[in-house]
Amino acid sequence: MIEITKISDIYNNKEELSKLEKIKVGGWVKSIRQSKNISFITLNDGSCLQSLQIICSSHLAEKTKNINFSSCLIAEGKLVLTPNRGQKIELQAQKIEFVNLTETDYPLQKQAIPLEVVRNFPHLRAKTNYFLAVFKLRSQVSWAIHQFFQQEGFYYIHTPLITANDTEGAGELFKLTTRQDKQHEKDFFRNQAKLTVSGQLQAEALAQGLGKVYTFSPCFRAENSHTTRHLAEFWMVEPEMAFADLNDILNLTENLLKHVIKKIIKDNLPELEYLEKYQQKELISELKKISNLNFPRLAYAECLEILAKNKENFIYNEIKWGMDLQSEHEKYLCHYFGNIPVFVVNYPIELKAFYMKNNSDGKTVACFDLLFPCVGEMVGGSMREGSYRLLIEKAKKIALDIENLAWYFDLRKYGYASSGGFGLGLERLIMFISGTENIRDTIAFPRFPGKLEF
Ligand code: 4AD
Ligand code: MG
Repeated sequence: MIEITKISDIYNNKEELSKLEKIKVGGWVKSIRQSKNISFITLNDGSCLQSLQIICSSHLAEKTKNINFSSCLIAEGKLVLTPNRGQKIELQAQKIEFVNLTETDYPLQKQAIPLEVVRNFPHLRAKTNYFLAVFKLRSQVSWAIHQFFQQEGFYYIHTPLITANDTEGAGELFKLTTRQDKQHEKDFFRNQAKLTVSGQLQAEALAQGLGKVYTFSPCFRAENSHTTRHLAEFWMVEPEMAFADLNDILNLTENLLKHVIKKIIKDNLPELEYLEKYQQKELISELKKISNLNFPRLAYAECLEILAKNKENFIYNEIKWGMDLQSEHEKYLCHYFGNIPVFVVNYPIELKAFYMKNNSDGKTVACFDLLFPCVGEMVGGSMREGSYRLLIEKAKKIALDIENLAWYFDLRKYGYASSGGFGLGLERLIMFISGTENIRDTIAFPRFPGKLEF
């Protein structure tokens, strides 16, 4: 029995493989064209965007008459180099095995179905070229993130998904229980359990001993937002670094993003080219541009000055200290600097989470948001408040459950090194790199308000 060869390997080793008597491929039919005594099938197996053309002549042409779009086949035959034709190689089939033919009610009959329609069939999306490209990028981006942190000497740690705290203090928690009666003291954990919104607090604990760590895991937020940038379940990478200052954290963020983008341009050009063509926009040149420039860094206060000069063009046009930046403002700031990523640092204390370190001006915290064109906030990070007393004070101010967080405050008492870190939303990064406009198209089985299928 001969083994199945991946189509990507066939394209990479075509000379060698064309010397063999026969090879075997398995995949799904992307197109089929038939004439009298011959049929042309293109088969894709998910290993790359390119499909393999399979030629069936004489009795096989007859046999393949009933094959339809997206059917699953295994083909055996001779690989032939055809340098003068549109496709450089073809498989002249000797044998075709029908693994499973597609029934006529297959909902994604044609290739060119709008993404929002395909979104209704998440279990079938992997059969389309768009999602083959996006899921491949997702895998590669995740790998590039790990590669970066490993190169930089960070430990990969795993923080819990079930937790008792609300890290961000925003009250967007999914609660977990095994009981109908809401009696937490009788519940599984004898406590109100929640799904984590961020692994930061636990990552901070590990950084006080391991030095440089990162966690990369799902996070859950019950934000009732129906935007194109929010999911109820998303993946976040969160590094935490001891002995760091805000500048170190900004540099780490910028270096990570440039590393990932450069690696994708180098290793995934076919996917980027496909996505660029599909979306009819400039994707690759934008990515190249961003991977080679320094991201501007400006204070919240400076942003207000820039926004004030353009205020008549905003819906939310009362530009004043203490206001949160709206998405229209974030977009404008990126546009102002030439459609590139922009760091905004030192937001007012009231706008940000309790754990962020107060600056000496008494008004701001040592934090940042990294804004990206089209996507908005890609990363949020900060230095962490190191003063035990101040930290408790800040937590109390927003009525956080102090008892559950005693361990976190204690870190400040037992040999505390000043630490900082950030959170990068994986799906937002995929959106940007792939040019995908809706975050729901960057994750295989998206979770959002009102939808829990699959
Ligand atoms: O700004 P956020 O809320 O920061 C934190 O959670 C910190 N604890 C991170 C840290 O310092 N360790 O979230 C960080 C990033 C956002 O910038 C965004 O990219 C992404 O996580 N994010 C979401 N992505 C998709 N859907 C949502 N509902 C998201 N909420 C945040
Ligand atoms: Mg944020």
